Amino acid sequence: MFNPLSHCIEGANIPVETTTGLTKRVYFNNAATTLALKPVMHKVDCNVPLLTYTDAPGPLGERTTINYDDVRDVVLNFVEGDENKDTVIYVKNSTEGINLISNLLCQEDPDQIVITTAMEHMANYLPFVTRFKTKVVKVTKKGELDLLDLERKLKMYKGKVKLVTVTGASNVTGITPPIYDIAKLVHKYGAKILVDAVQLVQHKPFTMKPHSMDEHIDFVVFSAHKCYTPFDGGVLIGPNDFFSKYRPYLEGAGITKFVSSKRIIYSDPPTRFEAGFPDIFGIMALGQTIKFLENLGMNNIFEYEKALYDYMKMRLKTIPKVKIYAENSNQINIPYISFNIKGMYHTDVADYLAYNHGIEVAAGSAGADIYVQSLLGVSAEDAYAKYLTGKPYGIIRVSLGMYNSFSEVDSFINALKKL
Ligand SMILES: Cc1ncc(COP(=O)(O)O)c(C=O)c1O
Repeated sequence: MFNPLSHCIEGANIPVETTTGLTKRVYFNNAATTLALKPVMHKVDCNVPLLTYTDAPGPLGERTTINYDDVRDVVLNFVEGDENKDTVIYVKNSTEGINLISNLLCQEDPDQIVITTAMEHMANYLPFVTRFKTKVVKVTKKGELDLLDLERKLKMYKGKVKLVTVTGASNVTGITPPIYDIAKLVHKYGAKILVDAVQLVQHKPFTMKPHSMDEHIDFVVFSAHKCYTPFDGGVLIGPNDFFSKYRPYLEGAGITKFVSSKRIIYSDPPTRFEAGFPDIFGIMALGQTIKFLENLGMNNIFEYEKALYDYMKMRLKTIPKVKIYAENSNQINIPYISFNIKGMYHTDVADYLAYNHGIEVAAGSAGADIYVQSLLGVSAEDAYAKYLTGKPYGIIRVSLGMYNSFSEVDSFINALKKL
């Protein structure tokens, strides 16, 4: 079945050169970065001639400032944050947002314990394990988070844990951990929760829930380039009173109320944490893309992608040599599948799909090294030994987006069947 939305996407239907001639591009690497929405690009293009900087004197400066700042409300509304309590800090991407939080926690108490998990992308793992005494929640045989292990760790380190950081959706298996149950548990033990929503918000309705609820999500990050813009730009959302307590992570212009050789007075958040030239087009594009997704309806996107995912999984399972990871989890809500083909090296399969059939997928550890090692049953020692051979372990990952179609899934399956 054809997906008419693909007409709204730059590059979704272009011909690409393969070993057998020109063929239609099939883009199944949306978890790495999505292709761009044409209506968003159009809005950006229209604004290029009016380019100036935020707070520049004159009507165009005023217009730019308003357009740029208004995206904070669009973001807050999208995740149902609290306009009186939460603030939206613009960052380069989620990685920067998470490093910012990690830096502020270090200012608060470098000896505190942070809990992260074995399911995380390195963006939500390395900023903590390299700076803190960190405890890592295990994953089960099914590839899901082990919530008993989380509670054990919360109990054991009660009072010392101020933050639990967890992915809202795995970029490898599409599993969505039960973040609201986790939030309840985390709050019961007096800590806060950060949800890495990079792979969640573009696929499924998401809410931070009210501050008064135990299920409330304290901090959220996500990136624009995974939400159908081709630009940098991301957001870190969290309580204003938390951010107000700390110094900037990046020093530079634009973050102060007053500076002299004797005194520095920093601006309030979010400005305090946005040093340097603003990412005007990245942020404008983020605002536009959120409006586009909201108009389509996040539930509609979720339902369509679920049907596409079910179809792909059903067809993939009919190929005998395919081994799908976390196959039996019933927490998969995001249309991603990671697999291997018996007797074939993962990057060879990805290259074959791209060079011979114009089908783009990911191959490797998808930036989630610890999780992929656990799914493959590779120990830390084995992983290192394989790395030294120059042939590291890895998986093939297919990640669908709202503009992919059933006929593209057929092309993918037919190509795999020829192996
Ligand atoms: C789950 C997850 N978290 C964080 C990131 C980092 O996102 P970014 O590279 O936009 O900072 C990624 C990137 O793939 C991801 O998949």
